[in-house]
Amino acid sequence: MKQDMIVILDLGSTENTVLARAIRDMGVYSEIHPHDITADELGKLENVKGIIINGGENRVVDGVAIDVNDEIYSCGIPVIAIDHAPAKCADKYDTIPSDDVIKAFVFDTCKSEANWNMKNFVEDQIELVRRQVGDKKVLLALSGGVDSSVVAALLIKAIGKQLVCVHVNHGLMRKNESEGVVKLFRDELDANLIYVDATDRFLGKLENVADPEQKRKIIGGEFIRVFEEEARKLEGIDYLGQGTIYPDIIESGTKTAKCVKSHHNVGGLPEDLQFELVEPLAQLFKDEVRACGIELGLPAEMVYRQPFPGPGLGVRCLGAITRDRLEAVRESDAILREEFAKAGLDKKVWQYFTVVPDFKAVGVRDNARSMGYMVVIRAVNTIDAMTATIERVDYEILERVCDRITAEVPSVNRVCYELTKKPVATIEFE
Ligand code: XMP
Repeated sequence: MKQDMIVILDLGSTENTVLARAIRDMGVYSEIHPHDITADELGKLENVKGIIINGGENRVVDGVAIDVNDEIYSCGIPVIAIDHAPAKCADKYDTIPSDDVIKAFVFDTCKSEANWNMKNFVEDQIELVRRQVGDKKVLLALSGGVDSSVVAALLIKAIGKQLVCVHVNHGLMRKNESEGVVKLFRDELDANLIYVDATDRFLGKLENVADPEQKRKIIGGEFIRVFEEEARKLEGIDYLGQGTIYPDIIESGTKTAKCVKSHHNVGGLPEDLQFELVEPLAQLFKDEVRACGIELGLPAEMVYRQPFPGPGLGVRCLGAITRDRLEAVRESDAILREEFAKAGLDKKVWQYFTVVPDFKAVGVRDNARSMGYMVVIRAVNTIDAMTATIERVDYEILERVCDRITAEVPSVNRVCYELTKKPVATIEFE
């Protein structure tokens, strides 16, 4: 392994990630592991130079205080403890000590080298994946999102054609998105890629379903079924690749951290499909995943693409989805994205899209009264998607977008701009 590592043992502190990031900022790789890691498991991690036991308010679970395994003190690796008072540890702190103290531990006591960078990380992960997988095959659901794309690129480098990617087009992708995935991964990166066009199947299941939660459930559930059917057709697959990243693990609840929301890629597939997981990004934060994608040579527009919900345009074609309104959402979204890119707003605005409500409004076209759909434009900025503010888009740009949409999408005769912050609105409409 190329990189030295400081292991943080997780006793439920919400500060673990802050600490890991602070150590990575010092140029030393740091991973967070469960508090009950055994000496044996620890021994399998390479280049561990030091251990930080980080206590915290959650270290009493159901009235019982949890603690680390005593055996880790005799591994010959320096240990410090924060907000925790194990008898065997010499160096104890009540709260996270200053960066200088951490630095002294990391560099002077542990003798770590500042060799954490994306190039080394990628090389280490490639080696770990090769060791884990051997000559077996790995299956990966490749949605085209940042995380699954970066995992795919990494696994292609590591194991080439032993990786089988499945891209399920649920018919709710943005314009040319599925084509882009096939072009990049199959044509350019020479991946073993199975493309499944399941548009009719998804739209069939969604017919007349207006309730947003019901729509989400159908899309998510059907996605797993399609993927599972493809998996069963293949032979000799032992591993499942996943684009799990560190925030997914935290939010789904570690042994000690509380569950925020369960993520579809942590758990999910039926239990009788027995795969071992390959999750090379599981220790990375989102910005690090992007840096990893760039290191792997993925195009910047893919790595820095704006967030796109799993249910896709399905939650932007409001109410019961119809093909003509879905087309109106897809085309208007493509026009908006094109005009935002021309104006340089694609690099400035966090998320922007169009939605089409399920009613028609009166208009005039070719001197005659006509009924048409209304497109709503939303463009928001946020740090963490918990709150969001409105981008004050120049009127000239908005009018250009409006003119293009009404000219190029004949089913649309009105375009509106959405002004509501989150809260009181959410970013998406459903
Ligand atoms: P809301 O609408 O809750 O959205 O303010 C916050 C962020 O989450 C995205 N979003 C989703 N992402 N599956 C996803 O993968 C979903 O069902 C989903 N709903 C919302 C949304 O695009 C925004 O970035």
